[in-house]
Formats: sequence, C-alpha cells, structure tokens
Amino acid sequence: MNPRKILVTSALPYANGDLHLGHLLEAVQTDIWVRLQKMRGHDCVYVCADDAHGTAIMLSAERQGISPEQLIDKVNAAHQADYAGFHIAFDNFHSTHSAENQKFSESIYQALEANGHIERRSIRQLFDPEKELFLADRYVKGTCPKCKTPEQYGDNCESCGSTYSPSELIDPTSTISGATPIEKESEHFFFDLPQFKDMLKQWTRSGTLQDAVANKLSEWLDDELQQWDISRDAPYFGFEIPGAPGKYFYVWLDAPIGYMASFDNLCARTKYDFNDYWDKDSSAELYHFIGKDIVNFHTLFWPAMLTSAGYRTPTAVFVHGFLTVDGTKMSKSRGTFINARTYLDNLDPEYLRYYLAAKLSNGVDDLDLNFEDFTARVNSDLVGKVVNIASRCSGFISKGFEGMLANELDDPALLVSMQAASEEIAAHFEKREYSKAIRLIMTLADAANQYINDKQPWVVAKSEPGSDTLQQICTTGINAFRILICYLKPVLPAMAKKAEQFLNIEPLSWEGSQSVLLKHQISVFKPLMTRVEPEKITAMVESTRAAYEASISSENETSPVSTQENESPFAPEIQFADFAKVDLRIARIATAEHVEGADKLLKLTLDLGKDSANQPIVRTVFSGIKSAYKPEDLEGMLTVVVANLAPRKMKFGLSEGMVLAAGPGKDELWLLEPHTGAQPGMQVT
Ligand code: 2FM
Ligand code: ZN
Repeated sequence: MNPRKILVTSALPYANGDLHLGHLLEAVQTDIWVRLQKMRGHDCVYVCADDAHGTAIMLSAERQGISPEQLIDKVNAAHQADYAGFHIAFDNFHSTHSAENQKFSESIYQALEANGHIERRSIRQLFDPEKELFLADRYVKGTCPKCKTPEQYGDNCESCGSTYSPSELIDPTSTISGATPIEKESEHFFFDLPQFKDMLKQWTRSGTLQDAVANKLSEWLDDELQQWDISRDAPYFGFEIPGAPGKYFYVWLDAPIGYMASFDNLCARTKYDFNDYWDKDSSAELYHFIGKDIVNFHTLFWPAMLTSAGYRTPTAVFVHGFLTVDGTKMSKSRGTFINARTYLDNLDPEYLRYYLAAKLSNGVDDLDLNFEDFTARVNSDLVGKVVNIASRCSGFISKGFEGMLANELDDPALLVSMQAASEEIAAHFEKREYSKAIRLIMTLADAANQYINDKQPWVVAKSEPGSDTLQQICTTGINAFRILICYLKPVLPAMAKKAEQFLNIEPLSWEGSQSVLLKHQISVFKPLMTRVEPEKITAMVESTRAAYEASISSENETSPVSTQENESPFAPEIQFADFAKVDLRIARIATAEHVEGADKLLKLTLDLGKDSANQPIVRTVFSGIKSAYKPEDLEGMLTVVVANLAPRKMKFGLSEGMVLAAGPGKDELWLLEPHTGAQPGMQVT
C-alpha cells in the first residue's frame, strides 16, 4: 500500500474566548479521522491555530487592560491545554498573528492584485465618533426601521426578520461606546469574487463537497455573486495591507491562510516540504473540517483566492452541524454552554469522544448531546461491554497462570469473525460515518460477551482450576478485547494506551487487529474506565450556570457583542423594578382600519377604560399586524397594550402605545387576548 500524503485542518478558534463543547465536536471529529489515517500507515498531518485578528479581539484586550498580543498569547496557551485535555493530537497549533501568516497573506494579496482581482472603492459606513472606529453591523443597535422593535442589531431584525443596512436603523447607537454613530466614507479593497463564478460552479460540483452543501451553494452561485470587502480601517488588530497605510486585512482574509501558515511553521522543523502540499499540481490531499456556519468562506472565497494566487484547492471540505445540548441551542443561563475546561474538571474526556463518535455521521445535521443518553451509552457500551470483557478474563489469567496467555485459542472462529470486520469499520471511519463504525464495533463486543457468558470461565475456574480450557477461554476473551481496542483506538486513544500497557504490547496499528496474542505475558488488569456519575454532570452544569451568573453581575465582563456565546433565547435578565416600569393594560380594539400607503400597519383605536374623572381613555396605535389580521376581525377584541410607552411619531401619525403580539412576524402573528372577564383599563400584573 502506498501511504497517502494528507493535510488536515480544523477551523481556527477565535483567540478571545474559551473553547466550548461546540469546538470539541469538530476537533473530536477531525482527530478521530486523523488518528485513523495514521493508524493505517498514511502520512497524515493535522494542523490548526488560533484565529487571532479582528475588532472583537482588539476590544476584548482593551476591556481586560492588556495588549492584543498578551491576550492572544494567554488564550493560545489555554486553547492548547484544553485541546490536549481532550487528546486532540495536532501536529502543529500556531496563530494567525505570526510571521508565516503575514508572509502568505501579503503574497497572496499581492497575487490577487497583480491578477486584477482586487478593486478599490469608497463606501459609507457608520463610525463611532467617540471610539473613532468604523462599526461593523453587530456593533450597532437601534430600532428596526420596519417593525419598530427596539434594540436590534445593525443588519437584521430578530423580531420581524427583515434585513437592512445599519444606517437605516432608527436611533442607532454604538454598542461599544453608546455614542450615536455618524456616517463616514472610506476606501475599501474588494476581492472580485464574481470573476470566479465559473471556476466555483465547477469546483463545488467536483466531489469536493457533501451534496447538501453543494446544493446550497448552487443556489448562491445561481444568484449574483458579490465582491468581498477584504479591508478594514485602523484601528484594527491585524496585518496592515502592503502599500496601504491605515488599511488592514479583514480577519477572514488571513484566517484560512492561517492553515498554510501553521503548516509552514511545522515544515520549518520537520521533514515536510510546503510546496509538496500546496503547489498547484500537488498530489497531496487537503481536507478542511468546518461547521456549517462558515461554509461560504471555505467553499467560495478560499478556493477562489487559492486559484488566483496559483495554489492548489482543497480536496474536500467536510462540513458538520452544530452541537445542541438536551435538544436546544447551548445556553449559558441554562448551564449548557459548557466550556472545555469545565467539562474536563468534572468528566473523562473520552466519555465525550465516544458519545460524539457514536452519534456522528457525515451529514450536516446538528448533533444533540443528551445527558441521559450520554450516561447510558458510555456506561453500557464502554464500561458494560468493552472493559468488562478484559475484567472478566484477566483475573483468571493473572491468578491461575501468572499472567501468561495460552498457546492456543479456545474459539479461533470468534476472533476471525471479529477480524473480518476491520475493513468495513475502517471504511465507515474514512467516510466519517462514525456512528456506523461504532455500531458495528458494539455488535462485535456483544458477540464477545456472549462468548464469555456461554463459556462461563468462573464455573470452569471452580471445576477445572489451572486447566488449559480455562486459560484458552480467557485468552480468547483477552484477544477479543484487544481487537475491540484496536478498532476503538482512533476514538479512545487514552483508553487504548492503558489497554496496550495492560496487554503489554507495542502501540496498535490498524493492521494489529489481524494478529492474535498467544504465549504472551500480560500485566495485572487495572480498571480502564469508570462509570459516568450523573452527579458529575449536574456539577458541571451547575458550575457553568454559576460562572455565567457571576459574569453578568460584574457588568464589565459581559461582552456587548453578540457572539455564538450569548445564545440564550431570552433578552438579558432584568430586575423586578425594571419590569414594574412597564404599565400593561387591557384594551378593547374599538376600531381597526387600513392605513393608506402602509404595507404592514393597521391603525387601531383602543379603549382603555376610564380615567379618574370618568372620562374615556382612547389611544391611537399603529401596529404591524396587517398581514395577519383583517381590520373587521379585530373590532371588539380585547388585547394587551403597553400603556406608558412614550408616543412615537411615525410616517402616518402619532402612535400612543403598543399592542402585544406573539410569533415570528409577517403573517404568523397572534395578538394577546385576555381570559373572559377582563375589562378595558385593567392593569396586567
Ligand atoms: O468561525 C470561527 O470561529 C472562525 N474563527 C473560523 C476560522 S476558520 C479558518 F478559516 F481560519
Ligand atoms: Zn423588525
């Protein structure tokens, strides 16, 4: 067999936050694949790095009172320790803030420019006049120009789903300083992606991508491709663009180049040759493992940049889904946004590696970590089935035979059938169908346990102590265990290492499953894995929740930036006093009518009961419910209104309150209606 030359990457984690279990899903998926290749004798190199540039990192360092360099060094050390804790075996872990990355970013940019793929033009953007920096969309908040929901980010409204430019927001503020942004013009550099449309259409359909990903991309590729803005103005933590003082490469320009930089850094201290792997006509394989949120960067911009700059393109990009916990998005307030370190402080990393492997397929579906299922699977499969085989057989060998395995097997056919599955298991791993591999391995473990149940060595040990039969049965069992460990080694490297020590053998290669151990001295068995204790899971969730609560009570530690980490479905917690400021009242919709020229609004006249002088309180409210309700169906209906909202001047008149409705918006909207008996004007408490 000719060893394949393979270079593998996982996505580079940002250098301003802790690793969490979402990162581990990808790292474990990649690491299992790399270990499989190495065990099978291929020359497989696995590199990664921290993604160290960008505004978020610059601001995060500023909040912590340290330099960006200090921050990224600190985080790099923490990331490496966390990955190592989960046995992620990178051949190199580098940083995008490195000399190698600067060299490649500059040279690739210069090639793009020389090839006519860079265009410059001025654009207007919001600018924070206090911090003196341009504001990316996520650093601007304001009222949605469409549905008027306050506190929406600069590019889209979470309430009505509409998209807009930050300058369209009503009353925008900078989330960094609170200042009102101004519009300012500046020159930007654009990568001319549309020139690569044909190349990308061909590349994305050439077997490089999963079908679901290729299909999604062809929707984009059938649409107009946009030029990609690759520059950012100072102040920015990154690399200055050659020949353009004050202009920096956008973090996503140099991030994937970080794959090259990390590999180049490895080449400098090993036998590997950079060009062998990255030249246009390289015969090496190149694979990127990524999450589904960053597909466009890896399957459009990246292959186009590589092509322009004269490098090879990836052999394949392997896309996975997100990790959910107990059926929902990871959430800090629920304690399910679990940091890698918090997990390691409480649980064995191989529980997670096994659980993820048992559920991973090569699709892009999300993977749910369900703690009950996690406990049951690890305890039943690993402790109950695999480790149990060794513990059931080893005692008889060490006590009765001084640790010596027999010269012959009691049941060679059992082992032959287990060995025969080797290529099928390897093929499942190779195709990233890990759950299929695990299912097959567990079927073999069941067969081995059934064999021991049938042979009952504990009965033989009483009836024929010291007999060849007993030694041969246990030798068969121990060999079955050895084969299972060989198959599980890409998933459970630490357990495999302990098993190799117990078996007193050299590290197993994939081929190792095809031999048997006879007349061989083994060591005394020590438990290889203990059962998952549910209390440890509770402790991990509790400490995650406690850390979150501590962080929100010290206001400076919460980032104003919405990242994947602030994924609670709810708005930030408020105190009762905040809630008490809102005066909710029952209102009767007296009249409802269309508003000329308005697509979404209905004009409602609301009856809110009577004031202390017994005069009727009537309010006019414009509400964006036109697509969900006909005016005539609303008249007479009771609903809930925010009665003390400051009147807002709208294009069609003054709106004196807001009626409450549930739902995602558009035609899926339901007005709140009180239970029978409520009367207009009653306070909602
Ligand atoms: O989405 C992210 O977390 C990015 N830091 C991934 C970068 S992958 C590569 F392109 F560098
Ligand atoms: Zn909106």
